[in-house]
Amino acid sequence: MMLSVEDLRVYFSSPRGDVKALDGVDLQVSEGEVVGLAGESGCGKSTLSLAISRLIYPPGRIESGKILFQGNDILKMGPNEFRAGYRWKKIAMIFQGSMNGFTPVFTIGEQIEEVLEIHQYAGDFASRTKDLMKMVELDPVIAERYPHELSGGQKQRAFIAMALAVDPPFLIADEPTTALDVVTQVNIMNLLKRLRKEKGISILIITHDLALLSEIVDRAYILYAGRMAELGTAEQIFKEPKHPYTQGLIGSIPTLQSTKIEGIAGFMPDLANLPPGCKFAQRCPYAMQVCGKEEPLLKETKEGQRVACWLY
Ligand SMILES: Nc1ncnc2c1ncn2[C@@H]1O[C@H](COP(=O)(O)OP(=O)(O)OP(=O)(O)O)[C@@H](O)[C@H]1O
Ligand SMILES: [Mg+2]
Repeated sequence: MMLSVEDLRVYFSSPRGDVKALDGVDLQVSEGEVVGLAGESGCGKSTLSLAISRLIYPPGRIESGKILFQGNDILKMGPNEFRAGYRWKKIAMIFQGSMNGFTPVFTIGEQIEEVLEIHQYAGDFASRTKDLMKMVELDPVIAERYPHELSGGQKQRAFIAMALAVDPPFLIADEPTTALDVVTQVNIMNLLKRLRKEKGISILIITHDLALLSEIVDRAYILYAGRMAELGTAEQIFKEPKHPYTQGLIGSIPTLQSTKIEGIAGFMPDLANLPPGCKFAQRCPYAMQVCGKEEPLLKETKEGQRVACWLY
């Protein structure tokens, strides 16, 4: 197993009390697998990607749980051990707007070479940079330019090139295509797909865009109010979703037949003041008495598919 998150709880202190951004979450990514994580805004997706990258800072804290990377708990490592041995080297990250994470005063190539230097890349830096640029389908001359000279899509590609500089086996992409136009979004997704095929790299893709996700993932997890509502293969999640929340999300994918976005009525509950029982009950068209009282646990409904819902 490449990555195994076990019963993870991440809380943020706030004047309203602890905001329980993740409250007992499990997630697995196997070698060479592309896994999606989806859910509405504020459900805890970025918190999970930040925890895996060891970037949770006050007022946030890891309350409990494990994050095993190739069997080692990264939460138990010292900051230097993680920085030197894991960040970029084994776990690369592309974040929401990370294309704006380039330093304006250095060229793209200089910044890629810095990553190579930090991680003591053994080969020739210039030719490696050239290869990386080609890998993300950019003209190598672009490496000589400054970040502001690139388009949004070019910058995002260049950032992916930098993230993959020292061949990490695992990539987290948190909303890698937000703020890009639709054509560029599809191109970036296709690029990730190709990298997975050619390099066998495992990818965790986080997005609220289910249509985009359905194009690329092997399996998907649906997060709701800091808990997993459902998980399964792409086929199971996108063709036979079981959880009423997943069904609502899938129903919200605009298609050619119906361009109307139905959405799910109501809002996610306050994570600092969660109701008892199923956190989706107030918005659920199938809510029963038990739903408002007891929280449902994930149950296997089919091989590979698990659902936290009292209907099953
Ligand atoms: N620094 C912080 N202080 C307090 N609360 C926070 C902090 N960061 C995140 N939260 C809370 O944690 C919850 C989860 O946030 P997170 O950023 O993980 O959501 P998300 O699913 O990535 O949303 P989006 O789709 O909008 O990116 C939210 O309710 C948010 O308000
Ligand atoms: Mg986010």
